[in-house]
Amino acid sequence: MLLTDEEQKMLNGFYGEGTKLAMKILVAVGEAYDAPKMVPVTRTHVALSNQEADLWFAEKLVAGGATCRIRPTVNPSFHLKQFQKITRIEAEDEAIVKRTHAAYNRLEAIMTYDCTPYLEKNVPRFGEVIAFSESSATPFVNSVCGARSNRESAQSALCSAITGVTPLYGYLLDENRAGEILVHVEADMTDDFSYQMLGYFVPKKTGFSIPVFEGLKNPSKEALMNLGAQLNTGGNVAMYHILGFTPEARDMKSAFQGKKPKGEVTITEADLKAMQQEISDAGGEIDFALFGCPHFTIDQIARVVDLLKGKKLKVPLFIMSSALSRNLSEKMGYMDIIREAGGELVEDTCMDQPCWKFLYGKKGITDSPKCAYYTKRRDMRFVIASLEDSVEAALKGMY
Ligand code: F3S
Repeated sequence: MLLTDEEQKMLNGFYGEGTKLAMKILVAVGEAYDAPKMVPVTRTHVALSNQEADLWFAEKLVAGGATCRIRPTVNPSFHLKQFQKITRIEAEDEAIVKRTHAAYNRLEAIMTYDCTPYLEKNVPRFGEVIAFSESSATPFVNSVCGARSNRESAQSALCSAITGVTPLYGYLLDENRAGEILVHVEADMTDDFSYQMLGYFVPKKTGFSIPVFEGLKNPSKEALMNLGAQLNTGGNVAMYHILGFTPEARDMKSAFQGKKPKGEVTITEADLKAMQQEISDAGGEIDFALFGCPHFTIDQIARVVDLLKGKKLKVPLFIMSSALSRNLSEKMGYMDIIREAGGELVEDTCMDQPCWKFLYGKKGITDSPKCAYYTKRRDMRFVIASLEDSVEAALKGMY
């Protein structure tokens, strides 16, 4: 790869061992993808996870004196103080949260602990070259914002944050952003939940190609967030287009960059219903409800609040959101309504964290296939249903 003098200085260790390691990793990634050079990034987001390997890497960079040139926002961990009121946190889990927090603070990350940075705090503009990890984030920034990010790992995004550059390959190049498969959507798409199912189902039909959706009408930001999160969970799809709606798909010509689609598929209401049945646990009694994977927006919280007003939940209901949305919920009286019903709204938290140990072995309900997918390995089972049906089930203790 052709490196600038500054990049070569980083690689030679002029800025210390941490920066040297970060640049060495990016050069290796670049060589693996035949990238000719590095390009500067203007934003980064790191899918921090509290897991041992992630912490090992962050601490190694800290020990090597690294700090971030392009300070990243970070993914959720779990909010110790809020969870200590809900459950007993084991000493080893508390220790790893504190060490991760300390390491990323030393690296000078922006400690947002939120998996929807593209909606608040780290919103890219069209054409910006960025390095984002987090499976719900990369499809959103590429497809909805028209920014350019590869499907980064937590580690490669952190290396870009430290060095300020990323190898030029993949989704950074015009030719790799063209749509590949035309997807005719004949399903009703009446609510944001339909987009969860569409996103989860499409890669089963089209593989990991870039889909171009035809037939979607003015999806909400939550619908777009759901669509991307599930495309990148049900499959490995970090970019999509919606004809006449997303910025690189004004029409067929621009969406496919003048080429013919490699294939066409049609998605019906029956397809989405069948997908829901296949991945959802059977109905019956439930033990809890869990929402916010990805983090709920203030509008989604408001919908839950409307459904809970003046009622009492049969089973606990948890919502995960950003610190900003939780703060707004306090100010707007939403927290009181949620708590009076018997629910809880927590910030900074991901469902794939050990703070949920008290729910292992139990059966919940959620509107997110991603939530159900990641928690299988933690022995949590989920009925997957629309937000309205899920809240209704939590009020009755039964779906
Ligand atoms: Fe967010 Fe964790 Fe789900 S990062 S999208 S709550 S898996």
